[in-house]
Amino acid sequence: MGFFILAVSAGDFHLEVDLTWGDHRAQILDGGKLLTLTLDKTSGSGFCSKREYLFGRIDMELKLVAGDSAGTVTAYYLSSEGPNHDEIDFEFLGNKSGEPYIVHTNVYTQGKGDREQQFYLWFNPTNNFHTYSILWNPQRIIFLVDNIPIRVYNNEESSGIPFPTKQPMKIYSSLWNADQWATRGGLVKTNWSESPFTANYKNFNADACVWSSGSSSCDSKTSSNAWQTQGIDANDRRKLRWVQKYYMIYNYCLDLKRFPKGRPRECRRGSRFL
Ligand SMILES: *[C@@H]1O[C@H](CO)[C@@H](O)[C@H](O)[C@H]1NC(C)=O
Repeated sequence: MGFFILAVSAGDFHLEVDLTWGDHRAQILDGGKLLTLTLDKTSGSGFCSKREYLFGRIDMELKLVAGDSAGTVTAYYLSSEGPNHDEIDFEFLGNKSGEPYIVHTNVYTQGKGDREQQFYLWFNPTNNFHTYSILWNPQRIIFLVDNIPIRVYNNEESSGIPFPTKQPMKIYSSLWNADQWATRGGLVKTNWSESPFTANYKNFNADACVWSSGSSSCDSKTSSNAWQTQGIDANDRRKLRWVQKYYMIYNYCLDLKRFPKGRPRECRRGSRFL
């Protein structure tokens, strides 16, 4: 039976990413198995994938900045380049010791975002590594935490709502100071006596269609992988509802003050957010 792996890349950060800013503050350790980003008063740091992808399932294990992480933001996202870019974001907003991180998500299509949803987590993300995944196929985008779907953004191009289908994206991550807005809306400032702040990454895995020189590694495929058609089944829907009921703290679709002329079109059907 034909078994065709499109592009599965696992493990070695040396092969998969470039350290893009922050000099020594971004480091690949442990023979490529561990990556650390740090932030101090002078600078944050970041990396991006060497390859570009057009659809895929991207998994990363992260252990976020521990202790008093207020004011810090760890971002982990997919983004294309250019003025009308597409972007699929996870951002982790730090907090004072013992107070909860916020997971901030957003989807940009053709340069326009404003589709934020925010969540608390059901665990302390600084004690251990947890897996944060973006599944992006032609039908939908699913954000997952430890394989539990927390958000789904469906492709409704047929109703005129843009969806990222054409622009290849790289994976980016960075750790920076955002104390003007990140923690309690900017009320709590970064405590520099705790710096450097460190976020840890391991087990990066991109099961994805690699884009290069104008063509996709999936064009020549003989069979498809599960992520390419993955949807939300009854079990996933139950988990999604659980997260939305107990852990969701902001949903742009419900923010009527912000959209006095009516909610964004993708929010208008109930199934969009529940
Ligand atoms: C930080 O903790 C406060 C108090 O518990 C909470 O209101 C806030 O949502 C938490 N997270 C951030 C990132 O501000």
